[in-house]
Amino acid sequence: MNQKIAVVTGAAGGLGRAFTARLMADGMHVVGLDLDATALATMAAPNFTGLPVDLTRPDDIATTFATIAARFGGLDVLVNNAGTCFMSEVPDIPADELDRQMSVNFSSAFHCCQQAVKLMLGRDGVRKIINISSNGAYNFDVFDPPHYRASKAALDTLTKDLARRYATDRICVNSIAPAMTETPLFNVLTAEVLARAIAGMPHGRAMQPAEIAGWVSFLASPMGDISSGNVIILNQGRDVR
Ligand SMILES: NC(=O)c1ccc[n+]([C@@H]2O[C@H](COP(=O)([O-])OP(=O)(O)OC[C@H]3O[C@@H](n4cnc5c(N)ncnc54)[C@H](O)[C@@H]3O)[C@@H](O)[C@H]2O)c1
Repeated sequence: MNQKIAVVTGAAGGLGRAFTARLMADGMHVVGLDLDATALATMAAPNFTGLPVDLTRPDDIATTFATIAARFGGLDVLVNNAGTCFMSEVPDIPADELDRQMSVNFSSAFHCCQQAVKLMLGRDGVRKIINISSNGAYNFDVFDPPHYRASKAALDTLTKDLARRYATDRICVNSIAPAMTETPLFNVLTAEVLARAIAGMPHGRAMQPAEIAGWVSFLASPMGDISSGNVIILNQGRDVR
């Protein structure tokens, strides 16, 4: 069988590295996209290709996916993971910070989906788009600022639209929405906010990137073929009411 090709955005970050490692262990060739070229260079492996790109630039995304098409001939899995959390608070969030938040977390994924679908259509098997959302779109008790929540809610609506649109083309689109997961993104929080958020996790600990990667692996595997249009909340049961 031909080796499956997966793109992971934000591949050099905490979750991105775990997704990349897991999908390579599953036998795929992973193309990692990230702003941080130096960090990508540390990830060299036989089944890994790092392509530095600023995913807030649609033209650069198009060029990158053209490179992927030329080198690999198509795409089987896209994990839209690149993102960040800007921490200004309403009612004083600067206009350019709102634009940047939506651009990094939502528009980047939107443009990657458009490019990826073209490389997935007509390919064998069930292809997968996995969007990394956040509990922040659903839980209003924790710290997340509104522009971060809105960027992830928009992403989950995109998930549902594309799931419906491409169901008969056998492209499955799902979101995974984790809560507190230990990555460098924790650095945007003060020690006090971080400690309170971790204390609020039912198991008394943050989740680990490898735990989220297991769910990405499952959705990307044949067992994930029957799931599309779902937002999978991972938070140890924190928000069950
Ligand atoms: N860590 C958590 O607790 C948590 C919880 C919920 C959701 N998430 C989501 O998980 C995803 C990954 O987050 P993480 O925790 O691994 O953070 P991270 O900061 O460790 O990694 C993010 C990666 O995205 C890359 N990136 C940022 N802007 C980019 C751009 N314009 N172009 C290309 N690459 C860019 C960064 O260089 C970095 O490598 C994000 O979408 C985040 O919102 C994280």
